Amino acid sequence: MAKKKNGSLRLAFIGGGKMAEALVRGLLDSGAYKRGQIDIGEPDGRRRAALRKTYGVRVNKANVPLVSSADVCLLAVKPQEIAPVLEEIGPHFSADTLVISVAAGITTSWIRERSGKARKIVRAMPNAAALVGESATGLYFRPRIGEEAKRIALKIFDSVGETVVVGKEDHLNIVTGLSGSGPAYVFLFLEALTDAGVYLGLSRDVAARLALQTVRGSSGMAAELDKPFALLREIISSPGGTTVAGLKVLEEGAVRAAFTKAVEMATRRSEELSL
Ligand SMILES: NC(=O)c1ccc[n+]([C@@H]2O[C@H](COP(=O)([O-])OP(=O)(O)OC[C@H]3O[C@@H](n4cnc5c(N)ncnc54)[C@H](OP(=O)(O)O)[C@@H]3O)[C@@H](O)[C@H]2O)c1
Repeated sequence: MAKKKNGSLRLAFIGGGKMAEALVRGLLDSGAYKRGQIDIGEPDGRRRAALRKTYGVRVNKANVPLVSSADVCLLAVKPQEIAPVLEEIGPHFSADTLVISVAAGITTSWIRERSGKARKIVRAMPNAAALVGESATGLYFRPRIGEEAKRIALKIFDSVGETVVVGKEDHLNIVTGLSGSGPAYVFLFLEALTDAGVYLGLSRDVAARLALQTVRGSSGMAAELDKPFALLREIISSPGGTTVAGLKVLEEGAVRAAFTKAVEMATRRSEELSL
């Protein structure tokens, strides 16, 4: 694998569900990979037909033939399906196969033990926003995996958003609690902001549009200005003004502590569910 150019690498996705589709779309749209380089293994016939039609990639019922000719094997089945899948395909990995798993909570040691000759294992924790090309993804590389494998994995996940690399595998539990579950926290915030607007007299549609654009605009502003979040908050908080009045209530309601606790609980849950 290390000697191959990107243009001749073959990627096999095992599982053609939501996450695999998001990644395939990202890889094709960004030009990182061409159709002919991507295979998907997927048991559901209707799903296979839909993926073929939409993306023009090869989609197979059987996984083993894909794995045997793949340089990179992306495990994109549900965590509870990964044991039988590895039992089936693990013996067909070569020592050069790069195995990348997106399965939540499945450790690289667990995968390594079931991956035959494969030594290069990467674990990724993307989030639901990958579906719109805006994932926040955490990646963990097993030691001695090599620069080429790292580059390939980064390229795959950079095609659906922003990627960070964590040095300790345990930190992927925190990534799960923060950005994996994060979209749900943001949806709750959007819902609460909208309800508040409705409570005070705005129509639901108007309040929802304002809430959504506020979150979108604030993230865009934070990304572009690249300043500490606390400083951005200060910039828009005039002394004695409306924003400080609102922020005081949020602090009294211990919102900051609630976020810490929420991420902590989600992290602990991720640890409990890990294999
Ligand atoms: N979606 C997210 O936001 C997200 C975020 C982070 C991580 N992940 C991880 O991504 C993985 C996939 O999640 P998903 O949301 O994409 O789930 P999904 O939509 O249910 O996709 C899983 C796919 O795998 C297929 N499959 C089942 N058994 C298989 C087998 N033996 N060989 C090949 N394919 C098989 C399923 O087909 P059938 O439907 O016919 O069973 C389904 O199409 C999970 O491990 C999850 O933890 C997802």
